[in-house]
Amino acid sequence: KRIVVLISGSGSNLQAIIDACQLGRLKAEIVAVFSNKADAFGLQRAQQAGIATASLAIGDYADREAFDQALLQQIDSYQPDLVVLAGYMRILSAPFVTHYRGRLLNIHPSLLPKYPGLHTHRRVIESGDSHHGASVHFVTEQLDGGPVILQAPIPILPNDTEQDLATRLLSKEHLIYPRVIQWWVEGRVDLREDQACLDGQPL
Ligand code: GRF
Repeated sequence: KRIVVLISGSGSNLQAIIDACQLGRLKAEIVAVFSNKADAFGLQRAQQAGIATASLAIGDYADREAFDQALLQQIDSYQPDLVVLAGYMRILSAPFVTHYRGRLLNIHPSLLPKYPGLHTHRRVIESGDSHHGASVHFVTEQLDGGPVILQAPIPILPNDTEQDLATRLLSKEHLIYPRVIQWWVEGRVDLREDQACLDGQPL
């Protein structure tokens, strides 16, 4: 299967996906990596792995719809089966999300439906929760609200800072994201109506 990855930053999840492909744990090819930030470190990771890269600048487009339409066309020129958001820090417009329905995945650093949006590590500490976590989900029009496929919880320790949580959570993210992508590649996970299914069973 052909995968396009969208990033905005460091790309450590992208790296985990690249590594899983190289190790044969993920039977797919990353055909292109796109960023909305020209200086995203993840672009260097992709180039290092011999993957085509491109960045699109928001300022070059009239509005969000125009930007997303241009992005969609560039993505589709690579004929991907699946589009993976890996730290892509922009809200996608409805036509984009609809176009890739069922073949658009995201990873979010919280135990959804808790803490959609930004600053999840800070918010979970402030709330006094005992656990934090990451969620891989299908993207739908609702921000961070699409059906969850797999979550990885971590305990919150008494003196944890935002940075501590971010670091510990990323190592979990790097385990679950390639795993879910491989499930998708095998056809084990799909989106039916608004329900994520694994092996045909609602999750
Ligand atoms: C991760 O925490 C991911 O859950 C969130 O953005 C961060 C991306 O990190 N969506 P990286 O760029 O993959 O290192």
